[in-house]
Amino acid sequence: TSNREKFRPAYHHTPLYGWMNDPNGMFYKDGEWHLCYQWNPYGSKWQNLSWGHSVSRDLIHWEHRPDAVIEPDGLGMIFSGSSAVDRSGSAGFGKDAVVAMYTSAAASQIQSLAWSDDNGETFTKYDGNPVLTLDSEARDPNMFWGAERNVWILVLAHALDHEMLIFSSPDMKDWTLESSFGRGLGAQDGVWECPDLFELPVNGESGKKWVLLCNLNPGGPFGGSATQYFIGDFDGKTFTSDTDDSGKVPTKWLDYGKDHYATVSFSDAPDGRRTVIGWMSNWQYAPEVPTMQFRSANTLPREMGIFRAPDGQLYVSSTPSPEVDALRGALVKSVSKTSLGSKARTYSIPELCEIDMEISPKKAESVEIELSNAAGEKVVMVYDAKSDSLSFDRRKSGIVDFSQDFPAVTVSPAYTDGDKVGLRIFIDRSSIEVFGKDGRFAMTNLVFPNSPYSRLSVRATGGSARLSDLKIYSITVE
Ligand code: FRU
Repeated sequence: TSNREKFRPAYHHTPLYGWMNDPNGMFYKDGEWHLCYQWNPYGSKWQNLSWGHSVSRDLIHWEHRPDAVIEPDGLGMIFSGSSAVDRSGSAGFGKDAVVAMYTSAAASQIQSLAWSDDNGETFTKYDGNPVLTLDSEARDPNMFWGAERNVWILVLAHALDHEMLIFSSPDMKDWTLESSFGRGLGAQDGVWECPDLFELPVNGESGKKWVLLCNLNPGGPFGGSATQYFIGDFDGKTFTSDTDDSGKVPTKWLDYGKDHYATVSFSDAPDGRRTVIGWMSNWQYAPEVPTMQFRSANTLPREMGIFRAPDGQLYVSSTPSPEVDALRGALVKSVSKTSLGSKARTYSIPELCEIDMEISPKKAESVEIELSNAAGEKVVMVYDAKSDSLSFDRRKSGIVDFSQDFPAVTVSPAYTDGDKVGLRIFIDRSSIEVFGKDGRFAMTNLVFPNSPYSRLSVRATGGSARLSDLKIYSITVE
């Protein structure tokens, strides 16, 4: 089956075949998580964009629903957007209708609606499309119910102007521009795309804050695509960003790998959760990656939170969704405590695995974590104690020559609180996701080893360090 394909992820969402980019129109309803996505069912390059649709009860096992595709029409291709459940039937499509808003893209980019009265099994396009037209490039509508003023709120990426436009509407059809955010703020390169706006509690503190996700491409910290975000306040009309001590709006990144883009959240997730999924690739080389029957996978689902880091600033945390724990199969290795020196300790690892560990650098300058195979292909991660950062070097990780932008080293601040660095590392057939303790940082990178990494080596440089609570779980997916 397609599952045997060499680089086809075993536990990440992929399209059955064809090209995929952004996750779209994600919503939760009646126990099911719905994930639509930018899809070209006719080939493995970006073309003929429509919305594919997959459904899951546990965020891990995805069932493909080819019938719910929203297809190109006279208004153009179907670009990215969002879905919302219209509980009161305010749009006239019935109570509890699922309403998708997307960009119709031809010569211009205009915003359209499609609705479903069968929980997303089938969508009907609104016959009054488009519902919003601007004379400049604007796309990726993110629509949600704004309890502040009891109206629908829409955030739209004014792509070339590097700003997010905020609209409101009583009925999803008639939109009034309320404000704009972003000119001159944050990372300003490339285009601004795929916004999301949501409120979150601050971990361990009493207040709540709003988070504005702003995907941009190119201009990410390691080239190409990446997700920046702003933390601030939203009064139902205007978003204002917090500033740092010097009065500046800081630039913050949601993930410090090269392969994390177009990240947005599910609407209506249960228990106040803010669950996101991102596209696990980069526009620099997405059409060239060495997969066969499909192109691109999505990240593991992640829970968003806000925490205060040792530098006194608020940041967004990304923790693997609790459902991800169910992937753990056998505990193939467990080490409660061991010292690390310049000679590496090595452990065998299964092809698909989760590796958890805590490192106490003590007097060491750095701790090196290497994943390698018999052919000498390797990924080298280094925790540097002085800068409290983790780097990830994939220059010798396997097949890297399909693009000059693929071989790279990425680096993330670790925001370590105390003296222990906690890590969770997820290895699938062509990706590695690293999460800091409590989601304090995330780093997502694709890798294409000719044979699976089979060995984990850990060592310290410039002094001895300690490794504790090492747990290697095999991952099994039924
Ligand atoms: C982001 C993006 C969106 C657009 C879509 C088209 O990756 O460029 O802005 O809607 O992809 O496929």
